[in-house]
Amino acid sequence: MPFYVTTPIYYVNAAPHLGHAYTAIAADVLARHHRQCGEDVFFLTGTDEHGEPVALAAEQLGIPPLELADRNAQRFRDLMPLLDVSNDYFIRTTDPHHVAEVQRILTAVRENGYVYEGTYEGWYCPRCADFKTDAEIGPDNTCPIHKIPLVREKEENHFFALSAFQEQLERLFDERPDFVMPRHRYNEARAFLAGGLQDVSLTRPKLRWGVEVPWDRSQVFYVWFDALLNYVTALSFARGKQQDLTQRFWPATYHIIGKDILKFHTIYWPALLLAAGLEVPRHVFVHGFLLTPHEGGEVEKMSKSRGNVIDPVAVVEEFGADALRFYLAREVAFGQDGPVSEAGFVTRYETELANDYGNLASRTIAMINRYRGGRIDAVELDPELAPDFEGLEARVSAKLHDAEITQALEEIWKRVRRLNRYVEERAPWQLAKEDAKAAELDRTLASLHEGLRVVTVLLVPYLPRAAEKLLAALGRAGETDLAEARYVGGREIAVDALEPLFPKR
Ligand code: ME8
Ligand code: MG
Repeated sequence: MPFYVTTPIYYVNAAPHLGHAYTAIAADVLARHHRQCGEDVFFLTGTDEHGEPVALAAEQLGIPPLELADRNAQRFRDLMPLLDVSNDYFIRTTDPHHVAEVQRILTAVRENGYVYEGTYEGWYCPRCADFKTDAEIGPDNTCPIHKIPLVREKEENHFFALSAFQEQLERLFDERPDFVMPRHRYNEARAFLAGGLQDVSLTRPKLRWGVEVPWDRSQVFYVWFDALLNYVTALSFARGKQQDLTQRFWPATYHIIGKDILKFHTIYWPALLLAAGLEVPRHVFVHGFLLTPHEGGEVEKMSKSRGNVIDPVAVVEEFGADALRFYLAREVAFGQDGPVSEAGFVTRYETELANDYGNLASRTIAMINRYRGGRIDAVELDPELAPDFEGLEARVSAKLHDAEITQALEEIWKRVRRLNRYVEERAPWQLAKEDAKAAELDRTLASLHEGLRVVTVLLVPYLPRAAEKLLAALGRAGETDLAEARYVGGREIAVDALEPLFPKR
């Protein structure tokens, strides 16, 4: 089964921030889970380097756009391994292979009859690179996202006949209620569609920083069409021209995006693909915004342009990538908006990672070492824990197949808490005092070992580093397939020493 997951490609007008890390981590959790299910996975991320957002930023710095793009693309590229994000390729839209593919595909769209010349007049946000419809304009002609004045544009350009796809898109939404997820975002996209589609600019005359229009050299493609196409162009050259991955991975299984770019991905993108004669993706999953809380209970969107961010690099350097991954997956229900803060991060780190999980791991290994010299023969497991683990891996996997990252993690975490209660209830340190309880102690420790091993296999997508270390210490290095996440026991146990997984600060 092929599984192709993407993140948005990020603008290189500024350095990466926590919002970008969030989407990359979420997509990585899915990619890692599908790999542990034995699926054929391709995971794409990258940078969006053309258009006004980048040209304007470069102009302000007094440097050529490509220089700014080179500098910031490198920062996005470097962010991925830092977060333990396992993307299979990193696309840059200034790559000549991408440029050539964009020109080829959009020429085909024109040959298919969906491009015509016209005059655009209306409101435009240079930060969104978005021509706003009447319903999308904030008070006093401002951008509702960036809160800056919109620019009145009047220009001659080539149009994409978006309105020609009104009925086809309605049918797509009718037939595939999971085309856009979660449900409230599907409804939002549907409402936009119900408002009636208007044709949109495919090209722009003024701006020089973009992909040249092959049939009209005085124009460049409007950056969104160049950008969206990355999801298909990357497959054609990521592994070299001799190994085209398009057949294998298109259509994409999931585009993971933030709600700011819903219209482009759920309306423009399927229409463009239909116009080009290509298949539409299976799902677009739209997540919410990370918010910055302020004194007095107010919140606002965390964004680079508004300067109110937590630095993911600093957090990772101090606490490790696993800690940031866990916090983001757990704190903000995936699909909803939610506030994040350093204080909230530290609380979750201490109570959940260090105490609930890290401590459980340390105690389990330490007790097996102390009371049994690190070894236990194959014994029957405690049936008391069996119902807690019955069908767990299938449930977690079903949730992750629906991109329910937070809910899947809660399923796992319930078992982490259950195992902590189990230790307290069984009190192995009491059993160890009585020779007559030796078999019971064996069973208790073996059951703890097994429960801990199962939750750790399930945590591989979230905490890849801690899971790898702990599985090795549990004597089951590299056994990360989903099929391993069953509470069955029946094997001899041999543990190693374990450094604290999440040391207290
Ligand atoms: O829009 N909370 O790039 P971009 C959650 N280049 N996610 C956030 C976030 C926040 N506060 N801030 C940013 C673009 N994001 C285009 C995309 S795709 C063909 C082209 C994440 O640099 C989220 O994924 O503005 C959002 O959709 C994306 O960054 C926007 O990144
Ligand atoms: Mg943006």
